[in-house]
Amino acid sequence: MSVLLLGGSPSASSSGGRLLHYIGDRLVAQGHRCARLQVRDLPAQALLHGDTQDAAIAAALALVREARAIVIATPVYKASYTGILKAFLDLLPQDGLDGKLVLPLATGGSQSHMLVLDYALRQVLASLSPRAILPGIYATSAQLPWSVEGGLAPDAPIAARLARGVAQLSADLYTLSRLSQPDTTKETCT
Ligand SMILES: Cc1cc2nc3c(=O)[nH]c(=O)nc-3n(C[C@H](O)[C@H](O)[C@H](O)COP(=O)(O)O)c2cc1C
Repeated sequence: MSVLLLGGSPSASSSGGRLLHYIGDRLVAQGHRCARLQVRDLPAQALLHGDTQDAAIAAALALVREARAIVIATPVYKASYTGILKAFLDLLPQDGLDGKLVLPLATGGSQSHMLVLDYALRQVLASLSPRAILPGIYATSAQLPWSVEGGLAPDAPIAARLARGVAQLSADLYTLSRLSQPDTTKETCT
C-alpha cells in the first residue's frame, strides 16, 4: 500500500517539502509505505521537452503509476501552483491518477491565496480521474515554523488539519486495500 509524496517546489529548503516529511512520518507510523519525489530533482531539459523516454522521468512516472495515493504539495506562485509541478503533471496520461487517492497541500506567503487548491490545482487533479481528492490543506510560512533541533512544528490549527488529513487518508487506504482483496468469508453465488 504505497503513498507517493510529491513535491512541486523549486526550492531545496521547501516548507512544502517539510510538510511532506511530516505527513510521511505519520503515514509510516500507521503502517503505510511511502516513496518521495521532488519534481525539481528531475532533469530539467527532459521535463521541459516532455521526454518520457528519459530514464529519470520514466522512473518518476512509474512511481505515480504504482502509488495508491499521492500527497502533493505546491507553494503558491503568482496565485497558482508552480510551473514545474504543471510540467510534471502534463507528462501523465489522461487518466494518470485513475483509482488513486489524492491529498493536496499548498503553502503560501500569506492568506491571500488560500483558495488556490480549490480554484487551481483541484481542477487539474480532477481531470486526471482520481478515485477521490481529499479536502486540501493550506498553510502560510508563518504557520509552519521549523528548526534544526525541533523540525517542523505547525501551529495548532494546521496541526489539527494535518492530523485529520492523515487519518482520513490512512482510513481510505485501508478501505481501498480491503476492497481490492477477494472476500473469502462470504459464500459465492450459485
Ligand atoms: C516566484 C514566487 C511567487 C510567489 N507568489 C506568491 C503568491 O502569489 N501568493 C502567496 O501567498 N505567496 C507567494 N509566494 C510565496 C510562497 O508561496 C511561499 O514562500 C511558500 O511558503 C513557499 O513554499 P516552499 O518553501 O515550499 O517553496 C511566491 C514566492 C515565489 C518565489
